[in-house]
Amino acid sequence: MQVFFFFFFSLILCSALIFSETLENDKRVLLDFLSHFTLPLHRWNQSSPSCHHWTGVTCSGNRIVSVRLPAVGLNGLIPPFTITRLSSLKTLSLRNNQLSGELPSDFVNLKNLTHLYLQRNRLSGPFPATLSELKNLKVLDLSNNDFNGSIPNSLSRLTRLRVLNLANNSFSGDIPDLHLPNLHQIDLSNNKLTGAVPKSLQRFNTSAFSGNNIIITVKEKKRKTPLGLRQLPFLLILSAACVLGVSGLSCIIMITCFGKTRISGKFRKRDSSSSSSSTPPGNWTSRDDEEGGKIIFFGGKNHLFDIDDLLSSSAEVLGKGAFGTTYKVTMEDMSTVVVKRLKEVVAGRREFEQQMEMIGMIRHENVAELKAYYYSKDDKLAVYSYYPQGSLFELLHGKRGMYDRVALDWEARLRIATGAARGLVKIHEGNNGRCVHGNIKSSNIFLDGCIGDIGLTTIMRSLPHSTTGYHAPEITDTRRSTQASDVYSFGVVLLEILTGKWPVNAETKHGEKMDLVTWIRNVVAKEWTGEVFDMEILSESGGFEEEMVEMMQIGLACVAVKQQERPHIAHVVKMIQDIRSTD
Ligand SMILES: *[C@@H]1O[C@H](CO)[C@@H](O)[C@H](O)[C@H]1NC(C)=O
Ligand SMILES: *[C@@H]1O[C@H](CO)[C@@H](O)[C@H](O)[C@H]1NC(C)=O
Ligand SMILES: *[C@@H]1O[C@H](CO)[C@@H](O)[C@H](O)[C@H]1NC(C)=O
Ligand SMILES: *[C@@H]1O[C@H](CO)[C@@H](O)[C@H](O)[C@H]1NC(C)=O
Ligand SMILES: *[C@@H]1O[C@H](CO)[C@@H](O)[C@H](O)[C@H]1NC(C)=O
Repeated sequence: MQVFFFFFFSLILCSALIFSETLENDKRVLLDFLSHFTLPLHRWNQSSPSCHHWTGVTCSGNRIVSVRLPAVGLNGLIPPFTITRLSSLKTLSLRNNQLSGELPSDFVNLKNLTHLYLQRNRLSGPFPATLSELKNLKVLDLSNNDFNGSIPNSLSRLTRLRVLNLANNSFSGDIPDLHLPNLHQIDLSNNKLTGAVPKSLQRFNTSAFSGNNIIITVKEKKRKTPLGLRQLPFLLILSAACVLGVSGLSCIIMITCFGKTRISGKFRKRDSSSSSSSTPPGNWTSRDDEEGGKIIFFGGKNHLFDIDDLLSSSAEVLGKGAFGTTYKVTMEDMSTVVVKRLKEVVAGRREFEQQMEMIGMIRHENVAELKAYYYSKDDKLAVYSYYPQGSLFELLHGKRGMYDRVALDWEARLRIATGAARGLVKIHEGNNGRCVHGNIKSSNIFLDGCIGDIGLTTIMRSLPHSTTGYHAPEITDTRRSTQASDVYSFGVVLLEILTGKWPVNAETKHGEKMDLVTWIRNVVAKEWTGEVFDMEILSESGGFEEEMVEMMQIGLACVAVKQQERPHIAHVVKMIQDIRSTD
């Protein structure tokens, strides 16, 4: 027995020693690395614990996993066999220094490296061949250096690569045909590349290849439809929207007539005629005209719909919110739009129409398009584009852990945040820079950050309860929302994206319930911990924590209590873009 315990304890002691030994090793490696440069680094000394005190160093399980030393003044060659001995390293950032010469070939040892940021140095020589061996690389940024020679075919081995930035170097020769299924961002601009963009890379924006001697042909032609032809799809959308607007209307009437709400169903001619109180569908227009109700389509055309088409389309209740009921209407030709029946509209016809006209003018890829609207004494409708992937709210909170909810990775969250911020900039530019959204929340943001439900609050009576957690403290009535309160709500969305928690009654690790903003402020005030981040993104083996921390700071700036301390949304866009583009 004693022998056993002795053995057991020695084992524990031994492994503890090995653990601290490897960490001590990592530490020595970094000090060795630093000794090649004549500069002090904050708190990097032998007697302080590297994991918690050293600037730019993060550990995991007793190993150093990331080293970030951006713009600290490192100059000269990267000393070989120093930093590359950190075999657990996942993230290395030495960007914005004055490092020069070639990359040491021993980088091949960094097998676990996923993120390598070496941009904005004076590194030179051919493309470092060793990098093609780092099979785990997801982000590779060598931009703004002096590399030359050709881009090797062997880059195709980096099958996990998501971001490749080689811009502003002197790479020459043809662009290799890179088959990188996960690549979603590439920048080869401002080099000396020649030839054509290979097929595998034609899906990217041509701006990624600008500033070279590259012939850009195929894709460009496909994308740019002559102006005359553009009218065609527009007319199609228009006629579909026409039809749909009316179908939403009949759907609503049907529901009223039957005195009950159904989650979904088809409404057909025979159904509506079976109800004696319903107006025959053919009379819709005339009845509306008497009342002055009319569907207005953006683009100035209307009455292109076919009533039979309309009646054979199916409608489904998507949800009932503070603003009324939302229907998804699918046409015979399978096109789909969303029809919102607005209730409690306080605005009169003129104000309603003006507001809708103003919203309809806002066109941007990150703003859900208002296709048409309708106003009559009894009904006010708004017809929007339909987003089949659902809202950010559903993507974040919908059926967590169930098989039909796909985890939302950090990449996607960053994309949504960027898109939504851009959309909000566009919205705030509307109405001569006075437009206010008034109801920013995750359920109004769709895939890739497209913002919906613009400006409806200004014509509505009530303050929607569903938005409580998003409201700036100064707001007591949505009709008095301001652009600053929009920024506040957007900040809450950012925090929601980062934490995966509901903005109202976010449950903390210790089971308490408080609103998200208060909770995060509390955590940050005590000491920064990763505890706030959504496990779903934190567990990604990417070392995105730094980006998440930056995003958190942007979110916190937006939810400043004092309105005048909140950043302008255009500035928010810039800060979010900087998270990725500078690192
Ligand atoms: C190392 O760091 C500790 C604690 O930060 C400090 O007390 C000590 O003076 C430092 N030693 C050197 C040589 O800088
Ligand atoms: C590299 O990553 C793998 C998988 O995450 C891990 O099992 C392995 O221990 C890591 N290697 C080192 C040297 O840390
Ligand atoms: C790359 O640059 C170096 C030094 O500036 C030069 O000697 C070499 O010929 C260049 N290589 C190519 C392929 O241009
Ligand atoms: C390349 O350099 C130009 C000019 O300095 C700069 O505007 C651009 O942002 C740089 N591109 C990248 C990807 O850094
Ligand atoms: C390509 O990028 C340019 C500049 O960033 C942008 O203006 C343009 O809209 C982009 N085109 C497409 C099709 O995404």
